[in-house]
Amino acid sequence: MGEPHGSPTSPFLLRSSPNELLASRPAKPGSGHIALPHGSTEDRTHSDGGTVLERWLDSVVATPGLTALRDPVDARRVLLDDSLRGVPLVEREDGPIVDVGSGGGTPGIPLAASLPGREVTLLEAERRKCDFLERWTPELPNLRVVWGRAEEQPLETYGVAVAKALAHPPTAVEWCLPLVREGGVVVLWVGPSLDEERAATAASRIAGRLEPAPAGFLVVRKTGPTPPGFPRRPGVARKRPLA
Ligand SMILES: C[S@@+](CC[C@H](N)C(=O)[O-])C[C@H]1O[C@@H](n2cnc3c(N)ncnc32)[C@H](O)[C@@H]1O
Repeated sequence: MGEPHGSPTSPFLLRSSPNELLASRPAKPGSGHIALPHGSTEDRTHSDGGTVLERWLDSVVATPGLTALRDPVDARRVLLDDSLRGVPLVEREDGPIVDVGSGGGTPGIPLAASLPGREVTLLEAERRKCDFLERWTPELPNLRVVWGRAEEQPLETYGVAVAKALAHPPTAVEWCLPLVREGGVVVLWVGPSLDEERAATAASRIAGRLEPAPAGFLVVRKTGPTPPGFPRRPGVARKRPLA
């Protein structure tokens, strides 16, 4: 589980790209280009060669502080293939998508490349990571980046909130549900140690109900408006989880 470090006190939308990182090319690793399978959902090539997802994967692995994964095969499995498993769950829902705690862009960048007709917002508390994420917006026109904490965003804006490795499920549900409109869903990538009962209890406190989901996912439907008192102040959901 990741902790936000140096989180901003207010959200800051990175719409334009004035920073010098945009001008630079995504980093190339010294070895081991990560190849995508034939028939990948994403086939936009760049003058440098390679698809945007291939170059994104290479860059995530090569950029310090974005992932502990160094092996290209592991990186592809965890950051790309596992993200793409969520496409059917997201695709069937309406509305814009937000990836909460996107880190280096997982799962939001693979989702944006796979669903070019859907707006995908990468919400991330660390400015340094947002600078990295912003580098991919020229190539994925449906992608935007927001620097900020989930607890400080406008409420009920999105049709779908997704998150992978954001926090323990009760905390992640509490952060994500207020961002979603009534009728929308939260889709969490979860591990085998998921305590479904605790997640259901937390969801029920903030107008959420668990739905059947494939292994490795928690799906929570938003059944009503965000109750008064939510979202709680930054840090509280992690310190005093609802369940
Ligand atoms: C362990 S990382 C996971 C990153 C990515 N989703 C992945 O699977 O590789 C968790 C990320 O969530 C961000 N984060 C933590 N709490 C947050 C919050 N309340 N709002 C927005 N981002 C948050 C952290 O800065 C960190 O980048």
